Amino acid sequence: MSEKHTQLKVSAIKDGTVLDHIPAQSIFQVIDILDLSHSENPVTIGVNLESRSLGRKGIIKISDRFFADEELNRIALAAPDATVNIIKDYEVVQKKKIDLPETVVGIAKCSNPMCVTNHQPVPTRFSTVVDHKKVKLLCHYCEKTTEEFIPLGH
Ligand code: CTP
Ligand code: ZN
Repeated sequence: MSEKHTQLKVSAIKDGTVLDHIPAQSIFQVIDILDLSHSENPVTIGVNLESRSLGRKGIIKISDRFFADEELNRIALAAPDATVNIIKDYEVVQKKKIDLPETVVGIAKCSNPMCVTNHQPVPTRFSTVVDHKKVKLLCHYCEKTTEEFIPLGH
């Protein structure tokens, strides 16, 4: 199984969270969503690893950190098929799929340049819509649809 190659490339962790099966092009979005650039825990990131199902995948391992489901579900915006593995004492004790949240507040940017959220200090707010397996964001303020997830500040 090609997954075994990735295990050699990124070492196992003792305790923490492993986010697996992230499309290679979405890995930096996931880092933004979880604000991992400010993490105080050790974070190991693998990009462009071989995967049978995705061609190339990304993996993120956060040692000694366990996230609320609500935080993990936001990953669905960038990586709807990611797998979350909970690691305790080197063992995978739980494996879960993430669920797309119905509303998304303050993470994504509205693509409409005229939207109030791009001009006033108003947190963005969207409803999620799935269209042909792609996640689209419907803005609560301007009612325009944002087709691609754009992290705030980009
Ligand atoms: N992992 C880790 N540290 C551990 C145990 C597992 O970093 N102590 C990682 C593995 O490298 C893998 C993920 O957690 O990326 C899931 O582990 P496992 O379920 O053993 O791998 P697979 O069977 O390949 O997972 P899946 O079926 O979800 O592809
Ligand atoms: Zn808007």
